[in-house]
Amino acid sequence: MIESILEKEIPTKEDLVSMLKAEGPEMDRLFKKSMAVKEQYVQNKVYFRGLIEFSNICRKDCLYCGIRKSNTKVHRYDIADEEILKAAQFAYENHFGSVVLQSGEQKSSVFTRRITRLLDGMDKLSGGKLRVTLSCGEQSRDTYRKWFEHGAARYLLRIETSNRDLYSKLHPNDSLHNFEERLKCLYDLKDLGYQTGSGVMIGLPFQSYESLAEDLLWMQAFDLDMIGMGPYLEHEDTPLYAFRNLLLPQQKRFELALKMVAALRILMKDVNIAAATALQAIHKLGREKAIKIGANVIMPNITPGEFRDDYHLYHNKPCTDENPEDCKSCLEMRVGLAGNHIAYDEWGDSIHYQKRV
Ligand code: 5AD
Ligand code: FES
Repeated sequence: MIESILEKEIPTKEDLVSMLKAEGPEMDRLFKKSMAVKEQYVQNKVYFRGLIEFSNICRKDCLYCGIRKSNTKVHRYDIADEEILKAAQFAYENHFGSVVLQSGEQKSSVFTRRITRLLDGMDKLSGGKLRVTLSCGEQSRDTYRKWFEHGAARYLLRIETSNRDLYSKLHPNDSLHNFEERLKCLYDLKDLGYQTGSGVMIGLPFQSYESLAEDLLWMQAFDLDMIGMGPYLEHEDTPLYAFRNLLLPQQKRFELALKMVAALRILMKDVNIAAATALQAIHKLGREKAIKIGANVIMPNITPGEFRDDYHLYHNKPCTDENPEDCKSCLEMRVGLAGNHIAYDEWGDSIHYQKRV
């Protein structure tokens, strides 16, 4: 039954729902197909993006997110610019080719200027050889333009869910959150020339298979270049935790996330798909499994402070850092076991973007 669906050139919403519901041998067939599509269109190559989560200060209050502004239990941090640049230097020297600067949403002229300076700093330290992706939330078109002019080439802004009703449920404070505004940000980014990335959370309370299939079709209709999506993980200090009885068991949510990646690879053959960090929270080899069945980007966390002071002295020694999941040689080995190899020193621009512009 799934075979006939997998043979179709253009899957319908119902076909996507069937893919997401596939179990056992049917799920294996889905993965076999998505692996073949991946190999044909983007090869079995994985690009590294060094992820620098430089601040968890956030003005928003998403019901699912641990760093929402109402969560007073969080210790807020904001890493100094020199430390951020040192992390970028680490990425550059270790041939990552690309970094992602991510933070909670902060909106001010001071913040805009700060990011502009950081972009200049990264350009300088690498002689323009480091590709920088920003993921700093919703900003004005002018701010996005300024950052683009200072070298930011890619931007990540997850739509979280393309279903307006679900979006409102998860973001009830209308003065802070607005689906149309978020969408407008994505259109601005694309229009300004960014490689545009978005994505959704998978297995949210009140989310149906149909809604996830619509998310995939939304990604296709928007013509995204990059997609990052991972399983929703309950966080006890957030309001959404009260609805944890509505969730699929974690193992099933994990499988559903993998099926989303596989279905997306079949639907949008040449885009960059990140193996979300959240996958790894459920399963130690979660990201590598996603790489095997369709993803082609991995974002090792290189946020300073997770590394011991002597990290640089020993960085070739396996697993001497405090973050063994992201130790370079361990990742190399695990990505290798997933039948892929890491493309060092390559920017790894989305092939989809290269064809689009
Ligand atoms: N579980 C999984 N992903 C989450 N995010 C935020 N909170 C959670 C959670 N509880 C995701 C959002 C956001 C990204 C940076 O992290 O999709 O865009
Ligand atoms: Fe920060 Fe959602 S809580 S953007």
